Formats: sequence, structure tokens, C-alpha cells
Amino acid sequence: MIFMEIKFEKAETLKAKPDPSTLGFGKIFTDHMFMMEWNKETGWHDARIVPFGYLSIHPASTCLHYGSEIFEGLKAYRRADGKVQLFRPIENIRRMNNSADRLCLPKIPEDMAMEIYTKFVETEQDWTPSAEGTSLYLRPFMFGNDESLGVHAVHNATFMIIASPVGSYYKEGINPVKIMIESEDVRAVVGGTGEAKCGGNYAASNRAGERAEQKGYSQVLWLDGVERKYIEEVGAMNVMFKINGEVVAPMLTGSILPGITRKSCLEVLRNEGYKVVERRISVDELAEAMQNGTLEEAWGTGTAAVVSPIGELCYKDMKYTVNGGKIGEVTQHLYDTLTGIQWGKIEDTYGWTLPID
Ligand code: PLP
Ligand code: COI
Repeated sequence: MIFMEIKFEKAETLKAKPDPSTLGFGKIFTDHMFMMEWNKETGWHDARIVPFGYLSIHPASTCLHYGSEIFEGLKAYRRADGKVQLFRPIENIRRMNNSADRLCLPKIPEDMAMEIYTKFVETEQDWTPSAEGTSLYLRPFMFGNDESLGVHAVHNATFMIIASPVGSYYKEGINPVKIMIESEDVRAVVGGTGEAKCGGNYAASNRAGERAEQKGYSQVLWLDGVERKYIEEVGAMNVMFKINGEVVAPMLTGSILPGITRKSCLEVLRNEGYKVVERRISVDELAEAMQNGTLEEAWGTGTAAVVSPIGELCYKDMKYTVNGGKIGEVTQHLYDTLTGIQWGKIEDTYGWTLPID
């Protein structure tokens, strides 16, 4: 079904595809990008796929001053049979609309968004790498674009999708990462923007992230913003722990991003009969489990991070090694199951994948 006409302007010269061993994360971009504009009178209009390039923005544009920006992250995967498929794109579309609601940006009707995502991936699908562990990362994003300095819900917005062939997010790849529990800065509070995927959340995270990096940690694990007591999430992923045989996921309180990888991991674990609970877990409980050896595994979940084992946690200069610094059984199983479905190596009995024709 056609919800809107998408114009196509082909790039004059197409770039050479990169060597898959040098990809890293988000450094190389494909030949084209998707754009469309919105205003109160016309709604969404001018949908187009154009050569990838710089934008020209009014210096008073709302996004530059007041942070009216939201984004998403999802991946297209090259299956063994050569086809390209998306993983649960409708979840990203719905989450972006929730983020839009929180930031007073316009929503995109689900059917229209789905058509745009699939059309764009169809156009750029040759950029989906096939080497082990690689994919085409899609970054849909939207920003308020009023050309005036008043603070209010925007009357003009732009929605875009760019795409980047990627390898692993962390330099460690699937090897365990070191994470520092942050006790000074906070990321989000209930009633704030923590459950929206908006640029401001990440800008406010950078100071703690830098401090952690200087100490040799990959990212910080945030505590709740009110009591600084409960475990929330890591900078670019949700977290889960295996404590005394049970998988514990910090519950979605409103200040945590509802991750699609998190949701998928929980569905897999529950479906396979694992003991799983979503609840609040305090840093003291976690520290005790680390001390008495009942913390058996810790891992992060995210589109960019996939399923990422945590090998070391640091809290107030106390360092704890998790599972001898090695990937644990449940972490490995989740990694294998999710990536197996995503890359089409195992049957998708959940109906999560969407092949692109
Ligand atoms: N939490 C944060 C702050 C993130 O940036 C991400 C990445 O998208 C996630 C969690 C994981 O979400 P998802 O699994 O939907 O990628
Ligand atoms: C993703 O995993 O898609 C994210 O958005 C994380 C990001 C901040 C790199």
C-alpha cells in the first residue's frame, strides 16, 4: 500500500564499500539518506531519498537550542541466503512515536513509517555487509526545526534516516566489558525523559561516561535519579543479572529506555522456562551478591551492543569480577539465539524478522 510518494534522487557517484574488518560503529555512511518535513498545516510531506550529504539549518533552529531531537536505532541483517531482513522494526516505530509524544514532536503513522523504513532499506540494501557479526545500522531521527527562539512545542520538524554498515559497538566485541556504577551524576528521573530516546539524555550522560573511560571502563551503569539506590541501565544498553539461578532485569519504572533487545531476551528466556523477574534491584543488593558470589552473570542488551557480557563492575572504587571475567552460559545462549534469528541462522518462531524484497 502506498501511503505517500517517496521521490528518489540517485547519487551521481556511488562510494566503494568498506573492508568489513575495519567497520567499527557508525563511522561510514551509505550513499543515500531519507528525509521528509512536517508542519502543522500540511503534516508530513516531501518524502525523498537523496544523496547522503550535509544539511543546511537556520541558526535559530529549535533543535540547536532546546534539544528537540529524538532518534531510533535498528539493524538490517544479511542472511546466509543473501536476503536482507529487519528485526522488529514496528517496535522502533512505536517507541519513536512515544518519544515524539514526550518531546512534543509530531508522530509518524505506523503504516507510513513502515513503508519508509522498508523502501529506504531496499534502496541501500547492497550496503548490508555479510561478514560475521556485521550489519547495516539504521538511524532514524527527528528534530524540531522552527526558525525562532521562542520555547514551545515545534511547528516544523524534519525526519530522516541515515544508515551505516557496522561491526561491533564495543572494541571488546563479544568479550566482556568493564562497567562502572555511577554514584554522582544521574541520567533520568521518573517524569523526565529517561524512557524517551532523545538526544538530551545522552548529552547529560557524557560527563560520567568520560570519567569512567579515563578509569578504563567502557560505560557507566546508572542508578535511579531520586534515591541513587536502584540499578537502571547502562549508557547504550539495558542490563540483566543472573543471581542465584534467577534472571533479574531492572523493571521499567519510567526513567529507563524500554529496550527492544531487552524485551526480546525476556521473551526468549520466559518462553524457554528460565526463572525471570522484572523488579527493582538496589545497588546494595547487587554489591552483596557480588561479595557473596551469588551474582553468576551480568550482561547488557541493545541494538548496537547486541548481548554484551559484563566482566567487571566497579562501585565506589570497589572492583568485582563477574563469572571470572568470562561470558556466562545464559549470556552466551541469549547472544546465540538473538543473533541466530537476526542473521537468519535459526528459525524465527517469534515472527520478529521482516525480510526486504
Ligand atoms: N538503553 C539505552 C540508553 C540505549 O541507548 C539503548 C539503545 O538503543 C538501549 C537501552 C537498548 O535499546 P534497544 O535494545 O532497543 O536497542
Ligand atoms: C542503539 O543501540 O541503537 C543505540 O541507540 C545506542 C547508541 C547510543 C549507540
